[in-house]
Amino acid sequence: MNPAGMTNSEWLEVISAMEEVAPYYDRVNQLITFGLADRWRAEVAARAKPDDVVLEMGSGPGTFARHLDVKQAYCLEPSGQLVELSKGLMRERGFDLIRGVGENVPLPDESVDKVFCSFSFRDFRDRESGAIEMFRVLRTGGEVFIADVAKPPPSPLSRLLQMHVRHVVPMMARMAVHPSVRSRWKNDPYRKFVETYDAFGFTTVYEKLLKEKGFEDISTEFLRMKGATMTRGKKPWKSTS
Ligand SMILES: C[S@@+](CC[C@H](N)C(=O)[O-])C[C@H]1O[C@@H](n2cnc3c(N)ncnc32)[C@H](O)[C@@H]1O
Repeated sequence: MNPAGMTNSEWLEVISAMEEVAPYYDRVNQLITFGLADRWRAEVAARAKPDDVVLEMGSGPGTFARHLDVKQAYCLEPSGQLVELSKGLMRERGFDLIRGVGENVPLPDESVDKVFCSFSFRDFRDRESGAIEMFRVLRTGGEVFIADVAKPPPSPLSRLLQMHVRHVVPMMARMAVHPSVRSRWKNDPYRKFVETYDAFGFTTVYEKLLKEKGFEDISTEFLRMKGATMTRGKKPWKSTS
């Protein structure tokens, strides 16, 4: 794994770790973020306007989609197991659930107003192709929002976050599930989370990538309590001159 992505076999391991934690994902996330995970998602989802057509890349069990209040949303998810798990919620919300990857989005050019990647860009196999696809499907003036666990450049805060992610998260995740589940977790799935966190680079890497792919007005801000960040970028209006 590296800041650009990962090999196919590493990616398959990430997907299988996600599938293993899926039934407990929401509960564990709330626990390891001290209840902040849902607030972060709500903070990011609030960037969508009710009239927007939205694409969420990596919708998982629907934990971000449930915060969206929009007329139309496409929720893209590669895992068949997670697609199955989130079907009911997506149907209830009237959202279109699509099985697929962010590196090859089955939507036409310039078809959405906002793209969201909520704690999923870190899991992409090939982030460059993902960024190209974000740009392609967005209408001019449209925006992309990438939320991820905070990873600030070296500082006391980054050391604290790193310690939390590397040591506290896997331990808390194990404590949050039933002992029978714990004993089934041979390759602790939250260890994969630590690997992707270590590998994904700082938000400056995301910013550089968005810039290279044509986005403008790129910025990153902390979400509540500085435990997560949101990087955004805008697809420029076409010049008519
Ligand atoms: C940590 S979960 C995030 C779920 C949800 N967005 C949230 O905020 O809780 C990351 C999701 O990204 C999906 N994912 C992994 N690789 C992907 C890719 N290449 N394209 C789209 N989604 C991907 C995983 O299957 C997983 O469901």
